[in-house]
Order: sequence, then structure tokens, then C-alpha cells
Amino acid sequence: MFTRIKTKSEIDSMRASGQILATILKLLEEQLSVGMTTQQLADSAGRELKALGGKPAFLGYFGYPDVLCVSINDEVVHGIPSSRRVIEDGDIVSIDFGVLYEGMITDSALTTIAGRPKSATDTKLVQDTRKSLNAGIGALHGGVMVGDVAAAIQKVLDDGKYGVVRDLVGHGVGHELHEDPNIPNYGSRGMGPKLEVGMTIAIEPMATLGDYRVYIENDGWTVRTRDGSRAAHFEHTVLITENGAEILTERRN
Ligand code: MF3
Ligand code: CO
Repeated sequence: MFTRIKTKSEIDSMRASGQILATILKLLEEQLSVGMTTQQLADSAGRELKALGGKPAFLGYFGYPDVLCVSINDEVVHGIPSSRRVIEDGDIVSIDFGVLYEGMITDSALTTIAGRPKSATDTKLVQDTRKSLNAGIGALHGGVMVGDVAAAIQKVLDDGKYGVVRDLVGHGVGHELHEDPNIPNYGSRGMGPKLEVGMTIAIEPMATLGDYRVYIENDGWTVRTRDGSRAAHFEHTVLITENGAEILTERRN
């Protein structure tokens, strides 16, 4: 299904969904510490979500077994929380969360470094991946081509000589977690479908310190870099407006 132009009431529900998501992601970022397990993060997300009246958007999606994805170092995305996976000093930790509220879904992720960063390169990878997301969002306006968004993201990551993951892409979002069209993190200006005012999409660049190629682990979910290089991932759900975009998964005030 191609992402629909949302009604006023659907947009209000997505705003509420996005605020719940942003609140929980911020809380998880604060709670994240060396020595805790990825399962503790997921359980915390689940508890808070319940308290705020939302439902998880990932749990059960194509059989995904938890409410949160936690991906560390060479894990790019879709890491499954585990009570045996302890977060270590200097780990690059990506947390990805999806919320269903009043029938509408929002999707957002951030990457942070636990404890002391191992190198300035790791810190820069995280900063630049965030910057590439902001560049993609900055390219948005009513009538923009998907290729314009993709090219804006790619420019930032190419300039930093990062690997730009190709096998996973952003997407339309709202009624379903993944709606058409794909929003790739590489591409050429003017290409692809057109995005109209009122559409909602998730933009999610994934960058690596090495090659762009990835593979899926034996667990059927965890996406890792082939060359073992470390990766970062940021994601926002945004509403396309006449002159720009409204970030629905960013905390207000
Ligand atoms: N943000 C991720 C994505 O859009 C979340 C999907 S995790 C899944 O691909 F478990 F739900 F698949
Ligand atoms: Co997504």
C-alpha cells in the first residue's frame, strides 16, 4: 500500500503516537548504561509504553519477538534484545522503537555510545549519521521526489567516506509500519515517486565505518556488516508539509 495522505485526525493521532515514542526513546537513552542488558532496555520500553497507553508496533511484525530493536557495534539494525547481551564500555548502541496509538504507527531510532567512546571516529560516525537524517528531512517539501531526499542523505555520508547501507531503506508509515514507497539512503535527484503534503514517511539512514554490505544473522533478524565494521542508525517519522516537514517523533518542549 502506498502511504496515504493523512486526514487531520490521523495526523493528530500520529502526533500523539510520535510524542509517546519520543518520550520513551529519550528515557531509554538516559537509562542506557554499561553493564545493563539489552533485554532490560526492551522491558523498560514495554513498561513505559503500557503506562502511556500505547501498543508496540514491532512485536509480532513478521514474527519479530520483542517490542524494541537494540543493535550494537557491527549490528546495523534489528538486533533482538537478550538477557545475555550486556552493554559494554564504548559500545555503539542503536535503539529502534515503534508505537501504535489510536490506530496510527510511528517509527524512530537513535544511536548513542555507552560509557567512553572508543575513538573519535566512532563519535563522528554517530554525529554524521544524525546529520544525514537531518539533511534528508531538510530536503522535504510538498511535491519533492524521493530521489532528492535520498541524494541529500547520501551526500553527507559520501562526504564522510562512510558505507551507506543499501539493503535496508526508509519507508512510508502510518496505517502500517512499512508502507510504500521505499525511501533509500542513496540515489539521484529527480528520481522515484513524488511525495505529497500530508504523507508520512520514516527516514532512516544506516552508515558504517567500512563497506556498505550487510548480512542477516542466524537468528533471522540481526543485520550485521559483512566486514565487521561498526555502524550507526537514526530514524524519524515525519509529516510532509507545504514548505518542509514536521518531525513527529521529536520531543516537543
Ligand atoms: N525501524 C525498523 C524498520 O523500519 C523497525 C522494524 S523492526 C521489526 O525496519 F521488527 F518490526 F521488523
Ligand atoms: Co523504520
